[in-house]
Amino acid sequence: MKVDVLLGLQWGDEGKGKVVDVLTPRYDVVARFQGGPNAGHTLEFEGKKYVLRSIPSGIFQHGQINIIGNGVVLDPVLFQEEAEALERSGIDLRKILKISKKVHLILPTHRLLDAANERAKGGAKIGTTGKGIGPTYTDKISRNGLRLGDTLHDFDKKYEAAKSRHIAMLTAMGETPEFAELEDKWIKAIDYLHTFDIIDSEHYINRCLAEGKSVLCEGAQGTLLDIDFGSYPFVTSSNTITAGACSGLGVAPNKIGEVFGIFKAYCTRVGSGPFPTELFDETGSKIRAIGHEYGAVTGRERRCGWIDLVALRYAIMINGVTQLIMMKSDVLDTFDTIKACVAYKIEGEEVCDFPYSIEEDTIEPVYVELPGWKTDMTKMKNEDEFPAEFAAYIQFLEKQLNTPITIVSIGPDREQTILRK
Ligand code: GDP
Ligand code: IMO
Ligand code: MG
Repeated sequence: MKVDVLLGLQWGDEGKGKVVDVLTPRYDVVARFQGGPNAGHTLEFEGKKYVLRSIPSGIFQHGQINIIGNGVVLDPVLFQEEAEALERSGIDLRKILKISKKVHLILPTHRLLDAANERAKGGAKIGTTGKGIGPTYTDKISRNGLRLGDTLHDFDKKYEAAKSRHIAMLTAMGETPEFAELEDKWIKAIDYLHTFDIIDSEHYINRCLAEGKSVLCEGAQGTLLDIDFGSYPFVTSSNTITAGACSGLGVAPNKIGEVFGIFKAYCTRVGSGPFPTELFDETGSKIRAIGHEYGAVTGRERRCGWIDLVALRYAIMINGVTQLIMMKSDVLDTFDTIKACVAYKIEGEEVCDFPYSIEEDTIEPVYVELPGWKTDMTKMKNEDEFPAEFAAYIQFLEKQLNTPITIVSIGPDREQTILRK
């Protein structure tokens, strides 16, 4: 059996949570492989809305096993809040959720370091989610991290050593760290975590595959936030790409099957960093208002712009995308025309390959303008109902991206999803 991967092709918030939920009935196992509570994955069905941060989006279907894989960074306090809220709404999480012993723990002091690093950067700040993601992955890579498995033996000593190191770093930065209340909650939350099934998830997943079970991996963030290939340094601290599913779960590259690449019919970004097709005018505000483009985790305004096909082609290449999923086209339902960036103009020359730097002052997007479909599509059930202009827009994108669009999402609800033939 192969492992399918679903991941974002833009700067995150493409709608991954919604589609993982829709696809879950096809799978036995759903697994997160990177990121942490910087993610906010929204699902809507039966009139209810849920936002998941660390827990995979496959928990609401029919008892599939959900795994938090080794590549994830986990904040015990935020995990407990998320899990308790789900338990209150009737989800028996302990039956379906397994957590890797190798996940790295976000400590209270990691959150403080995240904030201190941002303050130190001043005007050049990343605009992180403030969840301690960067400092936790930094500790992982510098071989100073604490893993969930560490909490099972002789943990106090390890925790105290990590805490002292962080306090020294914070003090050197001129900070006066105060976190007694959070620390208290954090230590209790470790006990709460121990009530879940903590496993060697790489063995578990490979056993599932050997038994013929199917696995869907759920990406967090997006390709343009990838630590290697994103708009560095304005990125997150993990590999958000298909390769991240291999290292974040212990799945060999030759086990990867379909790669679902998900994108919005336009583009958004939250936090700092370059965004060549960003709109600062009324059109940008209109997209934000209709698309409710505010962060699921931080509530921050998302920056909005036109779809960027140069960046999408790059993301498709890096990830080996086999199928595309287009989200939120309904947001453009009232637009007279729609623009798509097909190339960048750099120093007077048209460039189609995503360049090393996408700083706005060096890049001018080259747009193609397409007619809008001017039709409310939100209640459509079948692609045969698509207006001609919308069908033409899809055809245009498929040709530009050389990859089929197999799913179109026309609203936030689970039901507002059209599977194409
Ligand atoms: P994720 O992080 O990739 O899971 O995406 P988010 O949940 O952060 O952001 C996507 C937002 O768009 C959420 O509020 C979803 O409920 C909403 N959404 C998802 N698909 C659609 C769609 O097709 N149309 C509209 N209008 N909203 C959608
Ligand atoms: P989902 O999974 C959108 C952005 C932050 C910031 C940068 C680094 O919901 O798509 P971090 O806290 O990771 O160190 O922040 O990455 N960012 C996201 N933007 N969606 C996300 O997740 C994001 N996770 C991080 O805004 O610019
Ligand atoms: Mg999100």
